[in-house]
Amino acid sequence: MFYYFNELTSTIDEAKDEKYIHGDVVVAERQTAGRGQRGKKWSSAAGENLTFSVVLDTSFLRADRQFSALQTVALALVDLFSGYGLDARIKWTNDIYVGDRKIVGVLIDHSLGSGGMLARSGAGIGINVNQRAFDEWLPNPTSMARETGLDYDRREVLERFYGCLMARFETLRVGGHDALQCDYHSKIYRLDTPALYALPDGTHFTATVRGVGPGGELLLETSGGIKKYLYREVSFVI
Ligand code: BTN
Repeated sequence: MFYYFNELTSTIDEAKDEKYIHGDVVVAERQTAGRGQRGKKWSSAAGENLTFSVVLDTSFLRADRQFSALQTVALALVDLFSGYGLDARIKWTNDIYVGDRKIVGVLIDHSLGSGGMLARSGAGIGINVNQRAFDEWLPNPTSMARETGLDYDRREVLERFYGCLMARFETLRVGGHDALQCDYHSKIYRLDTPALYALPDGTHFTATVRGVGPGGELLLETSGGIKKYLYREVSFVI
């Protein structure tokens, strides 16, 4: 079911309510406390974009496989944009980019079941759809409208995304981790392209993304070889 709200603090908070079950989508026209990664806020013009959370029953998934759930969501977004003629890429770990600009942010949280399994996951997703002017402090935003010059029916975009997500989720449900990993690999932003990266202490270095491991670690190659980086251990210099 789709649940539409005019205003919420964050769809992530609302979707945590146990009354929502697998496949339910909580959508807000406006979030008063939209959350982004790394404790940042998510800025989105009310009524122009899509800000929503999808509840997924991930009780069949081992907790150490949780990155597969993120891959599933990211690939569904890439599939969505492909249907609109946009060549989107997945910027590690969970941004969707068109060119060098961010078009979607994803924040996924999981609750644990027993025996090392997940119970359910909430995928909070912000898709920039019709917004053309963005806050100055945002580093590199874009939207479907900015990329194509067209305006989009947001409900149709959401319904198409939902179809893409359920198709990819079925692959996850039947244990198609290798297929997801393979498709994810082919859509990685900056794959095999030398570029600049930054360490938490501010040091910049040139490296080449060679992939993302099944646990979600970024594989960066420098002249010293390939090294694995976990979330927050390295960031992209755009
Ligand atoms: C990011 O920083 O890239 C993640 C952004 C996630 C934004 C979405 S909008 C819907 C859901 N509700 C939130 O408060 N955040 C996510």
